[in-house]
Formats: sequence, C-alpha cells, structure tokens
Amino acid sequence: NNKIIIDTDPGIDDALALACAFNAPEIDVIALTTIFGNASVQQTTENALRILEIFEQDIPVYSGAHRPLTMQAKEYPAFVHGENGLGNIPQPKAKKQAEAISAAQFIVNTTNQFPNEITIIALGPLTNLALALALDASIAQKIKRVITMGGNLHVAGNVSAAAEANVYCDPHAADQVYTAGWPVSVVGLDVTHQIRVKNSFFEKLEQKLPEKGKFLNVITQFYMNFYQDSYIMEGCHVHDSSAIACAIHPEWFVMESGQVRVICEGECMGKLMLHHDTGYTHRVNPWQNKPIIDVAVNVNVKAVKNWLEDLF
Ligand code: BDR
Ligand code: CA
Repeated sequence: NNKIIIDTDPGIDDALALACAFNAPEIDVIALTTIFGNASVQQTTENALRILEIFEQDIPVYSGAHRPLTMQAKEYPAFVHGENGLGNIPQPKAKKQAEAISAAQFIVNTTNQFPNEITIIALGPLTNLALALALDASIAQKIKRVITMGGNLHVAGNVSAAAEANVYCDPHAADQVYTAGWPVSVVGLDVTHQIRVKNSFFEKLEQKLPEKGKFLNVITQFYMNFYQDSYIMEGCHVHDSSAIACAIHPEWFVMESGQVRVICEGECMGKLMLHHDTGYTHRVNPWQNKPIIDVAVNVNVKAVKNWLEDLF
C-alpha cells in the first residue's frame, strides 16, 4: 500500500480530507504532520489529535512550524474556520499528545528509512516541507510524490485577487517546494473551485455515520456560512479533499506541466507563475534550470463528487 504522510492545518475542510484519507482503501496514512495556517500550530495539532480520536485512528502526530520561513505570521482566518479552526464547536481535549520530534525531522527520517515509498499530501502552508528540505536536500530524490493543495494558475485567488491562502501564508516555502526537484502535483483553485458540495452531502454523512458524520456536519456549518456570506453561494468547496482525490485518482485531473515560481512580495504575493518558453535567451530568467512540475487545471467534477459520496 501507498505510505502517506499528510501535512495539515485542521481546519474544517482538512477534517473532511482526513476522514476521506482514513476511509480510502488505496492509501495508508502513516503519520500526520501539523502546520500553522487556519489556526496556530498548537491549535491545529490539538485538532489533528482530536480528529484522530473521533475517527478511531492510531496514527502519530508530529507538530511543525508555527510561522512562515522568513515573513511575519499573518492573522489566522477565524472568519473562515472559527477561532478554534473547527467552526467554534468546542472539543474535549484529546487524550494523546504529539510526538517529541518535529514535523520536518520526521519527514527527513521517514523518507530516508523508506526511499521511494513515501508520498506527502500537504494541505496547508508548505513551511514544514521547506524546513525538511533545508535539513536534508537529498530527500527530494527519495520521495515518491508530493501533492500540495494550494495555488492558482489561471483563476483568481481566494485570500487576495492574486493568491490562494496556503501559498500566501508562506510563498517562500511554496517556491522552494515547487523547485526542489521532487515530483510535485499542485492541486489549486483552478480545480478546487470547480467542486462544490452542498449541505445535503453532510446531512447524509451524519445519517450514515452518526458520530463521525455528525462531527463533520456540525463543524462544516460555520464554513458553509462563510461561503454564503462571502461568495453568495450555496454549499462549500472541499479544497483539501480534492488533493486526496488527486493522490488516489490522478486520471481525473488534467495537468499543465512546466516550471513554476511563486511571487514572494508585493500585491501579487502568492501568485504562481508558470514559465512559457519565449524562444530566446533572457539575461534574467527565474525559471532557468528549474524542474518541471504538474499543476492541475481541470478536473472531472462528477468523478470526484461520486468518489466522495461512495467513500462513506
Ligand atoms: C486552503 O486554505 C485553507 O483555508 C483550507 O484548509 C485549504 O487548505 C484553501 O485555500
Ligand atoms: Ca488546509
């Protein structure tokens, strides 16, 4: 089976994505690593532990970065995920604790222990992955694939008109991850904004799985309200679950391949730039000798939605 590390900032849509990953027979989640993003890393770590408890999963959690590589940390988006990252629904304290070593160190150790066997699915800012590369750049040659939820290529952003939230939170880390030389699939807003899930999905989930489904349904109401208020839209996007879908069913995604850099400052901060060959040599070329990666630009929406329904 595929050994998967999920790097996550739960996060309402992260919670659904984790539930999908636990239920998918094709993948074996060997650890969660946590990252700041939707809330502080203390909070997202606690949420990860709590989610594992609810879904009865015995999986270790490694706590990661509390801030971006070089920038000041931004405010957490409490208006999207609630103050506690789980829609302001109070949760009992999880019984287990995070492991002693850091997320980045765990990624390095495990990749060296299982060369060419590990896939990382990253559902938050990419700081932990960049820190792992800084500890041991050779892991780029030993990782099977890195699938990241984040970014936008041909569509508008969500945190600004230019940028998507995960990349915006640490653009330097995203730039390093996209150019490290490991095989990367970027699953961003070009595809996740095509997929919309309505309340009826979560209601059915609660009927099918009284406790687990109820948890997901109840926390998601806050997120639904955000979409209703900000996008005047019924239902919500399931960004992070779309990345899990891509990890299992890449055939449902149309990829555009190229060298990708990230704008790291100014008003366009967080915007992905895919290189197009101009046919002549530039004296300054930020894409020169950078590896080619895949960015999802289209998706079989029906297939992903059916997969979601059938998983539970
Ligand atoms: C991404 O940002 C977070 O709010 C979500 O959990 C998702 O990972 C979407 O832009
Ligand atoms: Ca997330």
